[in-house]
Amino acid sequence: MILRALIVRGKSALYQGGIPNAARDARLLAAHVCDIDPSRVTLLEMDEVSEAAIARFDDAITQRLNHRPVSRIIGVREFWGRNFQITDDVLDPLGDTETLIAEALKTSAKRILDLGTGSGILGITLAAERLDAFVVVTDISKAALLVAKNNAKRHHVEDRIKFIESDWFDSLHGKFDLIISNPPYIAENEMDALERDVINFDPKIALTPGGDGLAPYRIIAGQAQNYLSENGRVILEIGYLQGNDVQNLFLNAGFVSVQVLQDLDGKDRVIVAKRAV
Ligand SMILES: C[S@@+](CC[C@H](N)C(=O)[O-])C[C@H]1O[C@@H](n2cnc3c(N)ncnc32)[C@H](O)[C@@H]1O
Repeated sequence: MILRALIVRGKSALYQGGIPNAARDARLLAAHVCDIDPSRVTLLEMDEVSEAAIARFDDAITQRLNHRPVSRIIGVREFWGRNFQITDDVLDPLGDTETLIAEALKTSAKRILDLGTGSGILGITLAAERLDAFVVVTDISKAALLVAKNNAKRHHVEDRIKFIESDWFDSLHGKFDLIISNPPYIAENEMDALERDVINFDPKIALTPGGDGLAPYRIIAGQAQNYLSENGRVILEIGYLQGNDVQNLFLNAGFVSVQVLQDLDGKDRVIVAKRAV
């Protein structure tokens, strides 16, 4: 079978299974099983595909029909122009989280703390973009930290990153110019409304802290000042309805210049707050 025919077969199976973006997904999965860059699919579409690749493709299509996201099937997610390994132990990062990087790169922070790093996208991206930065990344999940370590090696920044297993600040000491985090923030009673691609595959600990979803912000607002250098700031992802609540938590904890920023869709997505001098 030639590559084009394989993609058509996959696309029609996904379409009939009600999977959105069937053509795009079939193309990405075909490129993955044939070990070629997706940008070369059109160029190579008349090539014969091996029996082994066809079997891998059919398996990938079955996974996708079960709503497993393409990034999880191929084990890779692109973030800020770099590919990151994704496993079942980490959140599949969202494009909206790039808003935090855009904001962080406006600062001149050199000592950076990434709390709840997951696959490492935030801390590793900042280490890769800022060659003079030293980054501490933490997670309560040992398995997630292993994934982050692999990604740090992949992007050649492991020498400037320290990996610490910690329940938020519990195992940390030192001062940082920037604390960045995308903590779990979905309220317990909103979990059922999540899409199947998310709820069935992202680790629960990466999605929700339980209760009203604000517990990590209470902890970070309560303790971050002890870990920030003068003029240090925090940049945190928030749920799009949490702007007022999280802003008040940081104002009440004595932070200054507390701002809510929007993502590219215009939704509240980020809180920035400065340590009071
Ligand atoms: C929403 S995910 C974000 C992962 C990554 N920063 C990203 O944006 O893709 C939240 C992360 O926080 C970690 N986490 C949950 N509870 C934690 C805690 N008590 N202390 C430290 N990390 C925690 C989870 O294991 C998960 O990796």
